Amino acid sequence: MSYSRIIGTGGYLPDRILTNAELATMVETSDQWIVERTGIRTRHLAAADQGTCDLAEQAARRALEAANLDAAELDLIIVATTTPDRIFPSTACLLQERLGNNHAAAFDVQAVCSGFIYGLSIADKFIKTGSVKRALVIGAEVFSRLVDWKDRNTCVLFGDGAGAVILEASSEPGILSTSLHADGSHKDKLTVPATVRQGKLDGNGFTEMKGNEVFKFAVKILGSLVEEVLTKNQLNTSDIDWLIPHQANIRIISATAKKLNLPIEKVILTVSEHGNTSAASIPLALDVGVRDGRIKRGDTMLLEAIGGGFTWGAALIKL
Ligand code: UT7
Repeated sequence: MSYSRIIGTGGYLPDRILTNAELATMVETSDQWIVERTGIRTRHLAAADQGTCDLAEQAARRALEAANLDAAELDLIIVATTTPDRIFPSTACLLQERLGNNHAAAFDVQAVCSGFIYGLSIADKFIKTGSVKRALVIGAEVFSRLVDWKDRNTCVLFGDGAGAVILEASSEPGILSTSLHADGSHKDKLTVPATVRQGKLDGNGFTEMKGNEVFKFAVKILGSLVEEVLTKNQLNTSDIDWLIPHQANIRIISATAKKLNLPIEKVILTVSEHGNTSAASIPLALDVGVRDGRIKRGDTMLLEAIGGGFTWGAALIKL
């Protein structure tokens, strides 16, 4: 049987850092409120001339370098994003051209904050069937552009960034299982309810969120999701070396770690410095943990996320 193995990771964060203190001069909030309720202290913002593809390209180049691979060797490019540079072509096609690859299948995945898990799961299935040998999976977002900077309910939460992994077919274990779910009946709880019609934006182009409802659903569903993954793989919580969660709120992350009986030292946390970067948050956290030497070859990692839709999903991976 063929597995998908991660052979390289990469991340990119734009230079501009926005602090809680600066936000407190923009809306009625405080560093104390933001830290206590979310765990976020800073977030990165893309420059005016940077788009999702620019961020994705940097992360992709770093992952390719770590994998010692030329972009021409990729057969599949998946970009998970909520903020594509164009309505079409996909950001994956724009990225493919930048990387100098003109043959790989390339497409975007839209599952908001769960997008990277969705992308990873799709790429894994391509590799398992033997139709793809090497895939690039990216989560990349300029989510700050979907945020109303006068709305304190949302603007303190989000940031921009990109994270990437290179997967390769291998006889050695890599991705052990993935689980994907969605329930569209929650569509109005976290949404940008707009479309482009006849050349104009039709609807509200800013993020609307019923924060408390999202919070409660996230804690409940992520608890049952991690149980589902353990049962499916006949594992105990003690078999998990690292939890790499979507970085939306430290309180949601802590609740999931508690459910897994994992000490917080076994959780890769970037929420404090990155904020919620939507589809980019998990691959960015993975890259941080790999590059600082905490996550080692052979470690078992549980990745999990929930996002607008609602969508949610998890991946169990042996590095
Ligand atoms: O990435 C996809 C998943 N997204 C998430 O996971 C987000 C999930 N939701 C959350 O993380 C939390 O619900 C929030 C951090 C958004 C809010 O925390 P909360 O503990 O649920 O607070 P709340 O919405 O119940 O609001 C409590 C109070 C309200 O004031 P009143 O009505 O009690 O007077 C809000 O108006 O806090 C107020 N508030 C703020 N105060 C200062 C809301 N935002 C702010 C703010 N600064 N930025």
